[in-house]
Amino acid sequence: MPTAPTVALIVAAGRGTRAGPLGPKQFLALDGEAVLRRSLSPFLAHPRVNHTLVVIHADDRATYGECVLGIEGRLLPPAIGGATRQESVRAGLEALSHANPSHVLIHDSARPFVDAGIIDRVLDGLGDADGAIPALPIHDTIKRGDASGLIRETVDRSGLLRAQTPQGFRYPAILDAHRRAASAGVSGLTDDAHAAEWAGLCVKLVAGHEGNMKLTTAADLLEAENRLLRDRLFGQGETVTGNGFDVHRFTAGDHVMLCGVRVPHTHGLEGHSDADAPLHALTDAILGALGEGDIGVHFPPSDPQWKGAASELFVRHAAKLAAERGGRIVHADVTVIAEQPRIGPYREAMTARLAGMLALPSQRVSIKATTSERLGFTGRGEGLAALATATLRLPFARN
Ligand code: CTP
Ligand code: MG
Repeated sequence: MPTAPTVALIVAAGRGTRAGPLGPKQFLALDGEAVLRRSLSPFLAHPRVNHTLVVIHADDRATYGECVLGIEGRLLPPAIGGATRQESVRAGLEALSHANPSHVLIHDSARPFVDAGIIDRVLDGLGDADGAIPALPIHDTIKRGDASGLIRETVDRSGLLRAQTPQGFRYPAILDAHRRAASAGVSGLTDDAHAAEWAGLCVKLVAGHEGNMKLTTAADLLEAENRLLRDRLFGQGETVTGNGFDVHRFTAGDHVMLCGVRVPHTHGLEGHSDADAPLHALTDAILGALGEGDIGVHFPPSDPQWKGAASELFVRHAAKLAAERGGRIVHADVTVIAEQPRIGPYREAMTARLAGMLALPSQRVSIKATTSERLGFTGRGEGLAALATATLRLPFARN
């Protein structure tokens, strides 16, 4: 291995006993990608980190191999850890001794949300100190309790901080600290800054990041998974809206189709398809939000295949176009303008039909109706009009 100025050392030899029976948490997938892989990637991608070494448990060689498939060429061969975190870190530091890097960033594989910003802050902090660690203030009031579950005292929290990783050190200084702590029989150091303090090194505090959580319990894993899903589905993107308007003329008949529901009436509606004006307005609203023209572009009235078609087809087509863009419809609001028929008795059925078409809960579908005070063509009963607004979430588009 060539001499490396800065090495990332990722400890991943723990058993994850507090996270439940699923095995070492670093190998569990979060939204399809292993925790360890997520914890490694920001170091592999960072221009100021030259090499990355992972410390694993002897039993995990095969699992590790599968986990880093495709990126193994960018990693140093793994080191084998010990029974405690402290021992695992020391094993990793020893494995680097022949390479003698100038600096090392020691990171828990159980922190998969580490990012380039925090790595930069730690490296910057190392400029004039033996070590630098990211930390965050404590906002809760801190109590000391006793074995019987009673409060012994309130701890003054001024100056108290929560330590995170990666923790950066001058390599020779932290190696020496860990070696000396081990030969002095000091155990139970839960982070490397503690080893550094014990050895009298000067360690700087830099800003941590609330998002850089450590996965300890099953609830933490669930929270991390939810966070990734939320970011994927809703986080990065924008809300767009579109509107639609449609009119159909009354003609001879005994019912009209409104939002896919057959509503008995003294007339029918004239049209090439089933003349479901609210669904046509909604289709246009969705197409409008997508900037995809209007219903006539996608379903030309001149095309005989749409004769008598159920308009649900048009809505589903527009929804499919949204899905193909990685987007989803999140709300639909429809207004029917007509003196007759009365919509009230059918509103519930129409809402249910629309919710089904759009795969939305019924609270996200709104059906309203109004007359036009006997004014205009709707007022004279010559036709029925419908308005719609569609709200969509779309991923950010590259312009
Ligand atoms: N770790 C390690 N070697 C150990 C113990 C822990 O490399 N003998 C690593 C873990 O893999 C983890 C980090 O140190 O990335 C922080 O430890 P912790 O959150 O305690 O993980 P586990 O020890 O795996 O979990 P538990 O204590 O619940 O068994
Ligand atoms: Mg542990």
